[in-house]
Amino acid sequence: MPLSSVISRDFSLRLHNTFGIESHADSYLPVRSAADLQAMLDDPQLSRLPQLMLGGGSNIVLTGDFHGLVLHSCSSGIEIVDADDNTTLVRAAAGVGWQALVEWTLQHGLGGLENLSLIPGSVGAAPIQNIGAYGVEMSACFHSLTAFDLTDGTLFTLDRAACEFGYRDSVFKRALRGRAMILDVTFALPRRWTPNLRYAELAAELAHLPAPSMQQVSAAVSAIRRRKLPDPAVIGNAGSFFKNPLVSRALRDDLLASYPGLVSHDQPDGSSKLAAGWLIEQCGWKGKTLGAAGVYEKQALVLVNRGGARGADVMALAQKIESHVRQRFGVTLEAEPVIV
Ligand code: EPU
Repeated sequence: MPLSSVISRDFSLRLHNTFGIESHADSYLPVRSAADLQAMLDDPQLSRLPQLMLGGGSNIVLTGDFHGLVLHSCSSGIEIVDADDNTTLVRAAAGVGWQALVEWTLQHGLGGLENLSLIPGSVGAAPIQNIGAYGVEMSACFHSLTAFDLTDGTLFTLDRAACEFGYRDSVFKRALRGRAMILDVTFALPRRWTPNLRYAELAAELAHLPAPSMQQVSAAVSAIRRRKLPDPAVIGNAGSFFKNPLVSRALRDDLLASYPGLVSHDQPDGSSKLAAGWLIEQCGWKGKTLGAAGVYEKQALVLVNRGGARGADVMALAQKIESHVRQRFGVTLEAEPVIV
């Protein structure tokens, strides 16, 4: 099929970002394979356009129309590619929904991803910010990925070390930013599964079960998420809007002296992670509205679309919160979503 017949022009992205922000892209290409990307590179007009890689749209804020080409991961397929005594390798195409992958693994009796149940977004986007929740980061079960280099059309594979995963961070946010379109991700899932109940709230949710199954852990995570986080299908949002800031233990101790309620967690590298939701709540922003954007009533870390919000509404609110937290606590908050 010629590329021109699958490209859409003046394409609305409202249904392709979980904030539900209206924004149009000049051109839009659904990407099902590396061949689609190669055809795009071979087209002298298309290859010159600014590019925006899009997965489930659950981690972006669109601040205006996009004058370029959206490359939307639309591939599908999940398969077991290898297994030994210790691990099962499962490969999923980038366009698969994250929750669909979690459910598939559970249906196949494969544990490892259950703490990451109900995270919105696609498989291909998961490594970019190393999604994490309830004591587990995706990097723990990551094996490798295949990506397409948009600068020269080469295909390459990266293992876990090469992805340089950190807290909501990876090489795709730094050296490979805007350059690598992830095509598929392979996960290494343990054959001998044990529940990870390190997150206190999850352990409490399952306290009545002596030996919870992976399905029960998944159900408990889903129940906690439904209680605290807005469903993007109902209220537009992009999950946590800010990262939990990492500060020195000295600064944490200073803050603790003035604010005994401060929530923090010591990190292996000697730093301390502060609960940004707590900082924001202390500044009085929880449940507040500014323009058409607001702070979710049950989780101050989540900004929501109160109806018809534009990217500018969300960013204006985010900036007010960021400056308030900086003034009061001397801590700088960093936005988690990609701002386009
Ligand atoms: N808190 C408040 N007020 C609030 C929100 C939180 O005081 O309005 C305090 C609570 O005391 C709680 C602590 O902050 O003890 C942590 O809150 P929570 O367990 O809700 O987690 P979080 O740190 O706010 C992070 C992730 C979430 C993930 C949860 C669970 C980040 C930026 N966010 O949130 O991830 O689901 O932990 O593991 O790390 C996301 O990235 O989009 C996301 C939702």
